[in-house]
Amino acid sequence: MDIKQLDNKKIPKHIAVIMDGNGRWARKRGLKREFGHREGKKAVKKIVEACAELKIPNLTLFAFSTENWKRPKLEIDFLMKLLFLSLKDELNNLNKNNIKFNTIGFIEKLPKSIYNFLIKVKNDTKHNTRMNLTLALNYGGRNEIVDVVKSISDKVKNNIISLKKIDESLINSHLYTSNLPEVDLLIRTSGEKRVSNFLLWQIAYSELYFTKILWPDFNKKDLLKAISSFQKRERRFGKTSEQI
Ligand code: IPE
Ligand code: IPE
Ligand code: MG
Repeated sequence: MDIKQLDNKKIPKHIAVIMDGNGRWARKRGLKREFGHREGKKAVKKIVEACAELKIPNLTLFAFSTENWKRPKLEIDFLMKLLFLSLKDELNNLNKNNIKFNTIGFIEKLPKSIYNFLIKVKNDTKHNTRMNLTLALNYGGRNEIVDVVKSISDKVKNNIISLKKIDESLINSHLYTSNLPEVDLLIRTSGEKRVSNFLLWQIAYSELYFTKILWPDFNKKDLLKAISSFQKRERRFGKTSEQI
């Protein structure tokens, strides 16, 4: 699979990825799960660069879910440390590659030093224009919907908006992803065929792509394959094939 085989006119505007399988990648090699996460970090770098090169304007990566707090404390601590070091390592590269960094999820609950650094990376990259890279951290789709309900209810209660004004576009504008277009393609690695509480509202009409490849092994060639599969599909959005 080569870049030239893709249709330039059908490049997805927003790709979201559930990066799964780090633990199994390590276990297969008789290593601790941490090694899988470290290898997974390298895959993140490769895929971010490949997406920028392919002119994908929006890439959203699921890095830590609201449910991942249930993991052993040692693993959580390791993931947090890895996140911190990765951000430090990559800040210059983000700017060099003109990539704007953002997060979705309740990052206030992350360790203070990481929270502060996330704010710095967002701030230092906010004028970049080539691609939006969004990291989902302490993110849960149901949690996001609860937040939307709360903020809209509060506005209704205080007569800022009327009940009649609540529609899909108002809800969209209150999501964490309000600045992003629809998710065109959702990729999940590692063979699991589930959504695990990621972007529930946003993937209503996304094309889903599941691959058995474990996240640390997922590379540019696999990304091209996923995009190629996306380009072959007919997105009907409820219409008939003849109407498209
Ligand atoms: C994905 O890999 C990374 C995170 C969820 C943080 P996993 O750690 O879930 O790997 P598996 O699913 O156990 O193989
Ligand atoms: C989903 O993976 C979360 C991330 C990739 C960050 P999990 O490994 O946590 O999902 P489940 O538990 O297998 O559904
Ligand atoms: Mg997993």
